[in-house]
Amino acid sequence: MKKALGAMLFYGRFALPFSRIGFRRRVGAPGLDADFSGQRWIVSGATGGIGRAIALGAALRGATVLALGRDVKKLDALAADAAGPGKIQPVPVDLSLMREVARVAREISAGGKVDVLMHNVGVMCHDFRRTGEGLEQGFATNLLGHWVLDAGLRAGGALVAGSAIISMSSGGMYGAALDLDALKAGDAAHHDGFTAYAQHKRAQVALTHHWNAMGAGQPRAWVMHPGWVDTDGVRSSLPGFRKLFRTVLRGADEGADTALWLAATRPPTGEGIWLDRHRDTEHAFGFTRGGADDRALVAALVEQAAVALAEPG
Ligand SMILES: NC(=O)c1ccc[n+]([C@@H]2O[C@H](COP(=O)([O-])OP(=O)(O)OC[C@H]3O[C@@H](n4cnc5c(N)ncnc54)[C@H](OP(=O)(O)O)[C@@H]3O)[C@@H](O)[C@H]2O)c1
Repeated sequence: MKKALGAMLFYGRFALPFSRIGFRRRVGAPGLDADFSGQRWIVSGATGGIGRAIALGAALRGATVLALGRDVKKLDALAADAAGPGKIQPVPVDLSLMREVARVAREISAGGKVDVLMHNVGVMCHDFRRTGEGLEQGFATNLLGHWVLDAGLRAGGALVAGSAIISMSSGGMYGAALDLDALKAGDAAHHDGFTAYAQHKRAQVALTHHWNAMGAGQPRAWVMHPGWVDTDGVRSSLPGFRKLFRTVLRGADEGADTALWLAATRPPTGEGIWLDRHRDTEHAFGFTRGGADDRALVAALVEQAAVALAEPG
């Protein structure tokens, strides 16, 4: 009963703004007059859906894009679809494996500065699965990998003042108050893929604030969500939802639009989550508001998890 009421409230409030109609109302048609020439970008989860559209959109506007994905065939197909030769460079990596992510961060850092880091990769894992490193797949992919990539690039001198970090959260986080135990999701018996996903997405907002609080001389960070976009991810993880909303789901270009716009516009940082080139509230419902130390707690949690993995044995 409580769950059904929550769903009614959620869909009543968001069905229109998150749909393609919402995009058309606030933005119109996707299309951005921006020049990213000379810029070096990273897009994670670039082989499909929104990440693919971001990578192609950035390359079309002149950026050289390092496309992170685990499927080499899809990476090659992406590079072939780019506006010019060498504009999209495949970087094969399993983003749920922290040692691989750390290695890629070192290799990219050796090539110099990164202008835009797009933390796009995200998965909803209904089945509880551990990675080869013993982490829950969703936690590793959606949050810890972002932290490890970010930290590795900072340590390697690739993320610097003037670099932009953009994280792809989800409107699903509106239904979740941050819960550190749920966030760790280490327990198969209590695993609920949707709840865990909402926690990761809420935690991305907290991490963004943490990164922006790191002080002068650091990159700036923004967090956004794409609305509801018809992608393979939605097809496989939310088939019922897709069936219901199929006619009003956004195209991948519409989901990518705000990411490209943020990279071009770089509005003032601060509270809020971006959708359709507008800063929206982080808390649509009062019960999700946490304490001021949320961001520090999330940062401490992921840092601890990353350090534990890096320790030998
Ligand atoms: N679509 C929506 O309506 C929606 C709404 C809110 C938020 N979002 C967020 O937007 C982002 C993109 O979503 P999407 O719908 O475009 O997802 P998608 O269609 O599932 O695409 C995700 C991409 O990430 C790749 N990927 C997944 N796990 C990986 C791993 N461990 N290592 C390397 N690559 C990996 C996938 O590659 P494979 O082919 O190898 O699996 C795929 O190319 C996610 O963060 C998602 O949470 C989406």
